[in-house]
Amino acid sequence: MTERQQTRSALDPTPLLRLITAYWESRTLFTANRIGLFEALAKEPLSLEAVAAALNTRPRPTRLLLKACIGLGLVVEDADGFRNSPLAQVFLTPGTEAYLGNAIRYSDNLYDTWGRLEQALREDRPPLAQETYLGVDPEKTCQFVYGMHNRALGIGKALVTLVDLSGRRRLLDIGGGPGTYSALLTAKFPGLKAQVLDLPEVVAIAKEIVAGMGATERVSCLPGDYLKTAFPGGNDVVLISGVLHRETEETCRALIERAKASLEPGGLLILSDVFTDAGGGTPAFAALFGLNMLLTAPNGGVHADADVAAWLTAAGCKDITTRPFPPPLPHRVVWGTV
Ligand SMILES: C[S@@+](CC[C@H](N)C(=O)[O-])C[C@H]1O[C@@H](n2cnc3c(N)ncnc32)[C@H](O)[C@@H]1O
Repeated sequence: MTERQQTRSALDPTPLLRLITAYWESRTLFTANRIGLFEALAKEPLSLEAVAAALNTRPRPTRLLLKACIGLGLVVEDADGFRNSPLAQVFLTPGTEAYLGNAIRYSDNLYDTWGRLEQALREDRPPLAQETYLGVDPEKTCQFVYGMHNRALGIGKALVTLVDLSGRRRLLDIGGGPGTYSALLTAKFPGLKAQVLDLPEVVAIAKEIVAGMGATERVSCLPGDYLKTAFPGGNDVVLISGVLHRETEETCRALIERAKASLEPGGLLILSDVFTDAGGGTPAFAALFGLNMLLTAPNGGVHADADVAAWLTAAGCKDITTRPFPPPLPHRVVWGTV
């Protein structure tokens, strides 16, 4: 056997076969979430006919969808009919604390955009204008902000265990989106007040979310553009979360410099995001996230945590620390003090 033949027989095509149909699974979840399957099954088991009536769908295809969802571990069937699996009941039923339906809806909205990856590669321009979900289209903006909120509820709970803000009083949350992190951090660390700087249409929704979390007294909102608006000074913590992946290295470094200048001596600069390892190809999720950002933001991509740490050092920060979020979260946090 030649070396090439040996290599070929030793290789298992299973990973490729999984990749070829991976989108079937996403699309099934997106559609079930969008048409309200998990909401319909949340209270009691339903017959096929009752599910089809609740969703305004036809019974034959609805049966196929239900069986596919059983295969994906989202639905179970017994003598009483179809009901949500524990996984779907906890994460896909509207109104639950861990609800991910809005975040799924955001990915669902991006599905067609991913179909234009080749175009983005040829033009180096996102097929989806970011203004669409950052203010211009009120419905998409609302879904984006609530999707960020759903995600941030989970990620933010991990962040509050990773950073110690005891004794800190004034947090500036740059590109703070729904304000969820600020609400969670100010709840965990007594005496801390936060300001969320984000685009006007986004902070309008953030105010609702912050009020819903009972945090209006602790979290205020500052409408603005982080590229142009002067950062308020006197902070002892600045958080830049989920922002660096939208920006070039040059802009990231400029944001770090300006954030640092807004901090009091001893202040803490926290940069949280999806970061790759040095080299950029791992973890796979982070590298793919770079493509997602290529498709959705003019300068979108992904940075390596080691690069971000080097930018903090170059900006004069000290005690640089990098920590991964607990699995399965793909995020990492890098911080330094001034
Ligand atoms: C992925 S979200 C991160 C939100 C939040 N910090 C989090 O981690 O959940 C990026 C945020 O940056 C905001 N953003 C993008 N460009 C901006 C700009 N030029 N000025 C202010 N905010 C901006 C978006 O509105 C969005 O809320």
